[in-house]
Amino acid sequence: MVSTIDNYDLSEHNTFGMKVRCARFLEYDRPQEIPEVLRLAAELPRHIHIGSGSNLLFTQDYDGAVLHCRAKGIKYMDMIDRVNLVVDAGMKLDDLVRITTDQGLWGLENLASIPGEVGAAVVQNAGAYGAEMGYRAMDVHAFDKQLGDTLYFPQWDCDFGYRTSMFKAPENKGRYIVHTVELLVYKFPCPNIEYPALKKVFEGRDPKSLTPAEVRDAVAAIRRDKLPDPAVVPSAGSYFKNPVVDREVYDRVVAAASGLTLPHYDMENGKVKIPAAWLIEQCGWKGKSLGPATVWHNQPLVITNPDRKAQPADIIALERAIAASVLERFGIELTPEVEKV
Ligand code: EPU
Repeated sequence: MVSTIDNYDLSEHNTFGMKVRCARFLEYDRPQEIPEVLRLAAELPRHIHIGSGSNLLFTQDYDGAVLHCRAKGIKYMDMIDRVNLVVDAGMKLDDLVRITTDQGLWGLENLASIPGEVGAAVVQNAGAYGAEMGYRAMDVHAFDKQLGDTLYFPQWDCDFGYRTSMFKAPENKGRYIVHTVELLVYKFPCPNIEYPALKKVFEGRDPKSLTPAEVRDAVAAIRRDKLPDPAVVPSAGSYFKNPVVDREVYDRVVAAASGLTLPHYDMENGKVKIPAAWLIEQCGWKGKSLGPATVWHNQPLVITNPDRKAQPADIIALERAIAASVLERFGIELTPEVEKV
């Protein structure tokens, strides 16, 4: 069924808790309803499809239609040592992680507690603790608005990268609606516990003795420790991406860090990924506020709206102030991970 509500309050559809409205809110239950939803959306000047709004900042009331998929189904295609899951885009990623890990299936446990829905998680290639959605997404079913039909994209056509995919590429912006995702998970143990914080938790344990639920719970505990609880403190998770820079830029930052150790990850392409959290902390922003917007005290990559009083402009003012400090001190331009609408 397609439901339409005009002049709709989006407070419950963005984890930043911005009190913004859209001209029309359209929800649907089945991919077959997408053409009808698009027809209703076309009566307005623009439209956008959202998941649970966990990576969005609405900058003002939206004069268009906001589309949302309510489908939350999951089908299992059982193979000898693995299972192909066919999952509707509207399922909460964390629910999927819980369901599969409770069944002893491996592959999604490191993605525990990430807010958001499966479709959006694939579009932005959500990732954490050494895992990414794109590693598991074998086939993505997306409605192509140009062709007016669903296309099936195998993993190698999705161009998954750091917090990006083909569906998010500027030339495809707004073209596809991901409505179903096929994810491959395993019945045999294949823990991925190389991420330092996870390695520490399981020190001394035989990886073959672990269960996916144990790894999921360890990931959830690490997240609880570092990140604000999305149910209590509004935010959109990491506000900035970790900058990926040339080696010369990294060397320059090391020099500017006056003796401090700069954590980094070497990438395959010879570039270096630097934690934005570290750059922001060095600029003194950890736990600081600018008006009602606050930098999270345990993870300065996260901007929060603790009292639900911040307007979009307050969040953007803090974003700009942080980015200006990092640019001035280290010569590195931070790019927001959060998408502005
Ligand atoms: N760090 C600091 N100060 C802090 C926290 C971190 O300097 O207060 C430095 C430390 O050197 C630490 C490094 O930052 O080793 C990395 O920190 P962390 O492991 O928390 O990861 P991150 O790079 O800051 C990324 C993702 C998170 C994801 C974690 C774990 C991005 C933009 N963010 O953060 O994703 O949970 O790794 O894999 O890549 C999200 O996207 O919303 C998100 C929370």
